[in-house]
Amino acid sequence: MPAIVHLIAAARPNFMKVAPLYHALAASGDFTPKVIHTGQHYDFNMSDAFFVDLGLPEPDYHLNVGGGSHAEQVGNVMIAYEKVALAERPDWLVVVGDVNSTVACAMTGAKLWIPVVHLEAGLRSGDRRMPEEINRLATDVLSDVLWTPSPDGDENLAREGIPADRITRVGNIMLDSYELLRERIEAENAPAQHGLTPKNYGIVTLHRPSNVDRMETLEPLVAQLEKVAKQLPLIFPVHPRTRNKLNEFGLFGRLEAAGVKLVDPVSYRPFMSLVSNARLCITDSGGVQEETTYLDIPCLTLRENTERPVTVTEGTNRLVKPEDLLTAVETVLDGKWPSGRRPDLWDGKAAQRCLEDLRRRSALRQAAE
Ligand code: UD1
Ligand code: UDP
Repeated sequence: MPAIVHLIAAARPNFMKVAPLYHALAASGDFTPKVIHTGQHYDFNMSDAFFVDLGLPEPDYHLNVGGGSHAEQVGNVMIAYEKVALAERPDWLVVVGDVNSTVACAMTGAKLWIPVVHLEAGLRSGDRRMPEEINRLATDVLSDVLWTPSPDGDENLAREGIPADRITRVGNIMLDSYELLRERIEAENAPAQHGLTPKNYGIVTLHRPSNVDRMETLEPLVAQLEKVAKQLPLIFPVHPRTRNKLNEFGLFGRLEAAGVKLVDPVSYRPFMSLVSNARLCITDSGGVQEETTYLDIPCLTLRENTERPVTVTEGTNRLVKPEDLLTAVETVLDGKWPSGRRPDLWDGKAAQRCLEDLRRRSALRQAAE
């Protein structure tokens, strides 16, 4: 009997991490992967569109938790997932990334003695004001197996006292999704569909509460984007949190008036077509910092810290203060932005390494039993 593996998918950045592992497990013959969608993200273009793009089946279970405060979201996911976990008793539970559903399912699984695997373990920004940092710390301490993307992940976990035999460096699985879909992404031609010329526009994504939730932080960013738009055409797929805040603070019209192309969030294939053809990205996203390093696209990250330091030390990512954004853009336009290299094991083959590690650990468990 193939072992049952629950894969938790909840929010936009999760789907690109779950899909390659789903496909590898489904093809293995040793495992039966089942997708549990918690419903943290629920709009078509924040969720279903990714299942279509990434060839994921309909979820086996949909928990429909939706939005809410942190406590409500974590609590509702725990209550709903516990029922599924008790009914199914999976052999393994894989949680990915650092969203509220990640920690909620890890906690639920750990309390039921279901072996928990954290994919994308060990990342640390050192900033506990970020909700994701709390989720990363708690998830890692609760997990039986920690799959890390880069050596800093291994080091952070070792420093926190996680035993070495729980940790396997598998590399960056998000880039497996890119490689799985590379030909179709290259055929997308998304810039032309938005009236943009390859290498002559910037793409913007912003959604971190520390940037968008307050007028005092969002307005200066809008003011900077107005200036940048005079130098370089900008396209900005607007996250629902950010759209709500731009509307609430009366800032949406200012960006429109500055000529910024404000569009709804785009699904994975067109988004990666836009990123791979861009002159630069301006972002506060975790995933985009990695994708731009992989594609050697300048990435200007509007944050004070990053949990993905290899994108700075090895890649094309730099942390930029809002007031320095225009200068940073000019550096790129002058051809003076440093290029980078791909970190070790960021090669589109991480899912295969996950599969091999899960086989090895399953055999060890059977032997112990
Ligand atoms: C969540 C994650 C964040 C991740 C981001 C990726 C947490 C704590 N945050 O942040 O780590 O980087 O997803 O995009 O888990 N909304 C919609 N439609 C949707 C989803 C959200 O309208 O499909 C709106 C709702 O008003 C919701 C708000 O966006 O209340 C925030 O959604 P939520 O999932 O709570 O947080 P994100 O900001 O999306
Ligand atoms: N993404 C997308 N369309 C968008 C914005 C993002 O397909 O309009 C993809 C992209 O692959 C990105 C990923 O979603 O790396 C992560 O999204 P997000 O920035 O929401 O989350 P984070 O990585 O910051 O947690």
